[in-house]
Amino acid sequence: MQRAFFYSSLMKLKLLPVCALVAISAFAASIPASGEINFIVDAGHPGAAINPAMWGIFFEDINFGADGGLYAEMVENRSFEFPDPMMGWIKISPSLAKGEISVRDEGSLTPANPHYLRVHSEGAAPFGICNTGFRGMGLNQNESYRFSVEIRGVAGAPALEAQLMAEDGSELDSTVLTNFGSGWQQRAFVFHPKASDWRGRLNILMNGKGTVDLDMVSLFPEHTWKDRPGGLRADMAQMLADLKPGFMRFPGGCIVEGSQLDRRYQWKNTLGPVGDRHLLINRWNYEFVHRPTPDYFQSFGLGFFEFFQLCEDIGAQPLPILNCGMACQFNSGELCPLDQLEPYIQDALDLIEFANGPETSLWGAKRAALGHREPFNMKMMGVGNEQWGHQYIERYAKFASALKKAHPEIMLVSDTGPSPDDERFQFLWPKLQELRADMVDQHCYANPRWFFENTHRYDNYDSNGPKVFMGEYAAQSAAVVSPKNRNTLECALAEAAYMIGLERNAAVVRMASYAPLFGNVDAWQWTPNLIWVDNHRIYGTPDYYAQQLFSRNRGDFVLPLAVENQTGTNLFASAARDDERKEIILKVVNAGSLPALVTIHLDNLPSRSRQAQAIIMTSAHATDENSFDQPRKVAPETVAIGKVKSKFHYSFRPNSLTVLRIGFERD
Ligand code: AHR
Repeated sequence: MQRAFFYSSLMKLKLLPVCALVAISAFAASIPASGEINFIVDAGHPGAAINPAMWGIFFEDINFGADGGLYAEMVENRSFEFPDPMMGWIKISPSLAKGEISVRDEGSLTPANPHYLRVHSEGAAPFGICNTGFRGMGLNQNESYRFSVEIRGVAGAPALEAQLMAEDGSELDSTVLTNFGSGWQQRAFVFHPKASDWRGRLNILMNGKGTVDLDMVSLFPEHTWKDRPGGLRADMAQMLADLKPGFMRFPGGCIVEGSQLDRRYQWKNTLGPVGDRHLLINRWNYEFVHRPTPDYFQSFGLGFFEFFQLCEDIGAQPLPILNCGMACQFNSGELCPLDQLEPYIQDALDLIEFANGPETSLWGAKRAALGHREPFNMKMMGVGNEQWGHQYIERYAKFASALKKAHPEIMLVSDTGPSPDDERFQFLWPKLQELRADMVDQHCYANPRWFFENTHRYDNYDSNGPKVFMGEYAAQSAAVVSPKNRNTLECALAEAAYMIGLERNAAVVRMASYAPLFGNVDAWQWTPNLIWVDNHRIYGTPDYYAQQLFSRNRGDFVLPLAVENQTGTNLFASAARDDERKEIILKVVNAGSLPALVTIHLDNLPSRSRQAQAIIMTSAHATDENSFDQPRKVAPETVAIGKVKSKFHYSFRPNSLTVLRIGFERD
């Protein structure tokens, strides 16, 4: 695994020397020596249409993104399926108590997750177990929590006391359960903690002599996203909704591939009752030797149905990514032989039917049975994550031929490996052009300088060739995959400058998403991340607000923008037109440390003066970040400008991303 980490890091670092060679003399100055800087916008001659789904999100269960994160279950290892079945649990056995616990699997609740816990007590004193949650349970006195457990009575007539406990050992609420039958039966209770505690836990104590079996021990906030029982953490889902993402790529990432094929993500195993979703070790559990997370597993409580449902909730087009018969090439690189790919391709065909098929179809009926009779209207699907080599091309070609034959309406997303310009990319990109791929995913993790230096990357791409999906990118402040990476303003500005280049090339680049999405401050493997959480708090990074500024100020068409006298500045700009709001949108990054005074010319607009406003994200230092204590230290603020004429001056603040919105209706 250590080797895997170093391999991964080195391959990605290949980007850096190229970037480092480019001297950034321009970065030293902000006021041009050569005269007035002009931005000349031709508002009358719109260029390429910008994809309404241009700015999206990429979700992967990394950094406790799903289990311990967006999936709101608070009990860790609720069904005793971890290889160490008591991980997450502590035996409570005071000195007077006499009892024993044992993990068993005969007569299990469900074959998918066969283990359960047998608790036997002699009754001399309360005896039982405690769950410590995902780095403690975040319990809020203003919220209620639904506790449930599957119980089977075995001997005697004991009582079970379930207690919500604070870190200091005080009880926050409790209930007593009695009368257990000889078959599995779910019992439930809603807790109302009398105080808040962010390192809470759940005790289950047996009083009296007897024996019971326990499984699927669960605790959920009652208030989840859309208040769905067993649903998603409301604050985390809300942060996603607030981005107004055009699409959601899911479930990975390397998660899709698995370190070996039998650990790949299989969507069919993520449907139906949660007890039937077979637990899998999370590949990020062991991927990085410097950040091991031995208690990281995938319960799939956030599965494919929940993914489609969330997409629908937040208005994002679903972009599922499927394994193409290749395990992660940073790990085993295990291949499914070409003549045995049929089940993988069938999974893809079945997923299309699950998402879009009529209720009368096999998989459409399963969707309807889960509560969604209407199709999800899925329009695209990804084949593989960061695959490379002829092995990928051979497998992609087989998928494409079968999927296009059955579903020409589904746009296929292929990939070009983990880097945007290494030898793997150089091999794959022309091959995918030859295959006339619909859309090709490109990934880039590099230092901020790379992003500033590559804003023209797509200027010479052939707009008749495959479309580009920038599926994963993030500026790395220290080094690629370094645990020292921070979500600084500088990183966000570098990404924004790059996104300006993506927007200018909207005919070629049709979609883009930052990566990764979530990081739990107490359990992360990868940094930087777009949004940081702990078990009860959340904040968006400057990168988050940059993404939000782009997605909320997308525009419908690119407008030609000529820039004069930009040499010697750190300015990056694009222009677009929002036809519904009748506004010109200018996006400008000033990555310099001095203000940049620009004369803006709005050519070919009907009205003489227009209302304008600026939405500005900046901070005193390029190294500034957000935190739980200062969640909006670096965040956009809206400033009214009033009426402007077709030529006006604007001073772009140092270290800033500014969105100017200028109305163009006749006043
Ligand atoms: O975003 C983290 C990882 O980076 C993704 O799983 C993978 O696709 C990339 O290498």
